Amino acid sequence: MDEKITVEVCVGTSCHLMGSSVLISTLEELSADIARKIKTKLSLCFEVCHGDKNPPVVRINGDFYDEMTPDRLRELLLKMAGETS
Ligand code: FES
Repeated sequence: MDEKITVEVCVGTSCHLMGSSVLISTLEELSADIARKIKTKLSLCFEVCHGDKNPPVVRINGDFYDEMTPDRLRELLLKMAGETS
């Protein structure tokens, strides 16, 4: 797989208060096999948390996922990277 999965973690105030730093730790703890398929970015507020999205918000390949948890993030990425969880 040449194309990497782009994961953007919001570190804006609302997302930070709701645990986005734990999501960053989750990304750091992924195995090397998964990590090399992922490009991680930190982002300031996506401006969606005052609309229909609840923090913490992560954008993966352009799609927003809200109320993200470490387990859900890990599962999503394993699935997208073609690995079994
Ligand atoms: S603070 Fe994260 S989307 Fe607004």
